[in-house]
Amino acid sequence: MGERAIASNSGSQEERDFELSLRPRWLREYIGQQKAKENLDIFIRAARKRQQALDHVLLYGPPGLGKTTLAHIIANEMGSDIKTTAGPVVEKAGDLAALLTNLSEGDVLFIDEIHRLNPAIEEVLYPAMEDYQLDIIIGQGPSARSIKLDLPKFTLVGATTRAGLISAPLRGRFGIPLHLDFYPVSDVEIIVHRSAEILGVEIDESGARELARRSRGTPRIANRLLRRVRDIAEVIYEGKITDAVAADALNRMEVDTYGLDEIDRKILLTIIDKFSGGPVGLGTLSAAISEEKDALEEIYEPYLIQIGFLNRTPRGRMVTPAAYDHFGLDAISRGEQPALF
Ligand code: ADE
Repeated sequence: MGERAIASNSGSQEERDFELSLRPRWLREYIGQQKAKENLDIFIRAARKRQQALDHVLLYGPPGLGKTTLAHIIANEMGSDIKTTAGPVVEKAGDLAALLTNLSEGDVLFIDEIHRLNPAIEEVLYPAMEDYQLDIIIGQGPSARSIKLDLPKFTLVGATTRAGLISAPLRGRFGIPLHLDFYPVSDVEIIVHRSAEILGVEIDESGARELARRSRGTPRIANRLLRRVRDIAEVIYEGKITDAVAADALNRMEVDTYGLDEIDRKILLTIIDKFSGGPVGLGTLSAAISEEKDALEEIYEPYLIQIGFLNRTPRGRMVTPAAYDHFGLDAISRGEQPALF
């Protein structure tokens, strides 16, 4: 997979540090996702009032919308520590046992990509989440013994790109499921202003709007684009980001007016050119464009579907007339019968 603004938590150390510096630390600084934020605020206050650990939280939604940020905010607001790991990193039941037994009362354990936990390891989580009990088997064969340990009352915060990807028993053990959705342009605009202020970048209303419009409703992308636009503003212009500067910078980066990049265009144009607009199955599409099926489904498709350029149908993926229009393609190339008169 090519380097891309949207790529999850990837990039250089410098880029990660940059992202970290822009991350809100408190719920009141967190912009947008009103519903999730309001609910979370109430549950955090209630748990604090009762001096109890917050119930387990499942954060689900496309990458780059702030799931990791929210996990850190939860720990901050609860006045507790956070330990973080990710589904694919936890290889053995013992790895999870080590994490769980290292927690203190009220701590947050954040498991990113929780849908990628091995099912055998997932089972260790059930009693841990439900009764704060660790049940593990030590040894093998006739000498194997099962031991039970009491765990501190902790909060598991799990993050996944789609709630449907995690097993029903695991999903059912999260008392607080929170769905994050793409941000409206107006919220991304506020985030861009906030980030620009932290970075000391001069940007006007029109510049922030142009950048927000092309950020796919995703703060992580907005912040990465801001950094690049700033470079171009400083080297080619006088430093200030206006709409014209932002548009020129983003055009240079081949990010179009909908925020689509090279890979998005490849997906849509391949369906149009090679499969007459679809329907085409996920496996076939994946092979045609050399992108992994998971990446297509979890990273690229959600936004294309959200802006109405792509449909998932029982027979496969289909490009919509709106996408043809975006590329300036006419009815004949859509494979439709041309009008007779
Ligand atoms: N940076 C990234 N996501 C943010 C958000 N939701 N609010 C404020 N700043 C952010």
